[in-house]
Amino acid sequence: MQIEQGNKFQTEADQFSGDTKAIMLITHTEPVNGTITASMKNTEKSNTLLIPDNILVTGGAGYIGSIVVEQLANAGKKVVVIDNLSNGHREAIIHPNVEMIMADISDKELLKKIMIEKGTEAVMHFAAFIEAGESMKKPEKYFRNNTAGSLSLLEAMKETDVSTIVFSSTAAVYGNPQLTPITEDMPLMPINVYGESKLMVERLLSWFNEIYGLKYAALRYFNACGATEKLGERHQPETHLIPLAIEAVLGQRPKLFLYGTDYPTHDGTCIRDYIHVSDLASAHLLALEKLNQSNGRLIYNLGNQTGFSNREVIDAVSNIVGKKVPIEETERRPGDPPILIASSEKIKKELGWKPAYTSLEDIIQSAYLWRINHPHGYTSE
Ligand SMILES: NC(=O)c1ccc[n+]([C@@H]2O[C@H](COP(=O)([O-])OP(=O)(O)OC[C@H]3O[C@@H](n4cnc5c(N)ncnc54)[C@H](O)[C@@H]3O)[C@@H](O)[C@H]2O)c1
Repeated sequence: MQIEQGNKFQTEADQFSGDTKAIMLITHTEPVNGTITASMKNTEKSNTLLIPDNILVTGGAGYIGSIVVEQLANAGKKVVVIDNLSNGHREAIIHPNVEMIMADISDKELLKKIMIEKGTEAVMHFAAFIEAGESMKKPEKYFRNNTAGSLSLLEAMKETDVSTIVFSSTAAVYGNPQLTPITEDMPLMPINVYGESKLMVERLLSWFNEIYGLKYAALRYFNACGATEKLGERHQPETHLIPLAIEAVLGQRPKLFLYGTDYPTHDGTCIRDYIHVSDLASAHLLALEKLNQSNGRLIYNLGNQTGFSNREVIDAVSNIVGKKVPIEETERRPGDPPILIASSEKIKKELGWKPAYTSLEDIIQSAYLWRINHPHGYTSE
């Protein structure tokens, strides 16, 4: 598809939507979760999705990306993963048809080569550094990787006429919201560099949409958690509450630090909205399908619309494991808003997204089972 002039993305997108080779009608049965034990959910969801065949996934060896890759590959898509393995795991690419290329998103020329060679039609962009706390100590690391790296990716897409992207954004773009649950139209005022670095990418996407016709979906995740049968959460260092609590209760770390017990919440600890990673993943496929059928500028929150305090999560882990999580109460961390709860009404209404995991216990149970079955995470560690 050679485009000589004018609006590159728009022109490509027009051709794209009429290209029957590029878009295949598929009907598939997608297991929302594994079948480790009867206590885990084993719901099945039938989907008919109109999405491109050739998808490039950045950060696909990471926690969320690897689970999206699995869903795409199970749906018969040709997936190429780009990951520099700074935080990912080669072993998290489990589908035999998925190609993993070790590359950095800042390497624009390499990205262009890969996109041309692999016939990339759409990008899902997960690659980023994700620690809000660290971002307040090393801001340049986050702006360089998350923001500048994303700009390289967008330039590579523009120069190879790849017109569609689904971007992993975050609840951190809202900062410390005055109202809850948070809707997509609320003010965007990050209170940490991580959130700012992601918001800057949303701005890039918006301008690329306006000027070049890039179709994009920015999905603002709240707290991703849980696991499938084979894939789970293994960040190093780990900073997320559920895996930390599980590691502490299993004796894999001496204790869990509870940061801040004087927040203006019912028990003094932060309140967060937890969303199962399989539900996040299914939203990506729906967003890609919607982009295929529209001019493309989609922004959605992804959460369960229920908040749990840190203490409630810790208690739930203790109950599920049958043993108390050892904790040490300590000072607040900079950049932690007291309450973050999503409204996900928009994506439910517009895309028919329906999370399968609405119970905190089910989510924790899936994470716990994965950890028990993978006590050392991925095998190369
Ligand atoms: N985990 C959450 O709760 C959460 C919440 C909101 C948003 N997000 C966003 O979701 C995305 C995925 O998060 P995750 O939890 O899976 O993180 P992760 O660290 O497990 O995955 C990120 C992946 O990106 C790779 N990567 C990082 N920089 C790269 C670069 N320059 N080039 C190539 N690869 C690179 C890492 O090696 C890793 O495999 C991130 O963009 C994050 O900001 C995550």
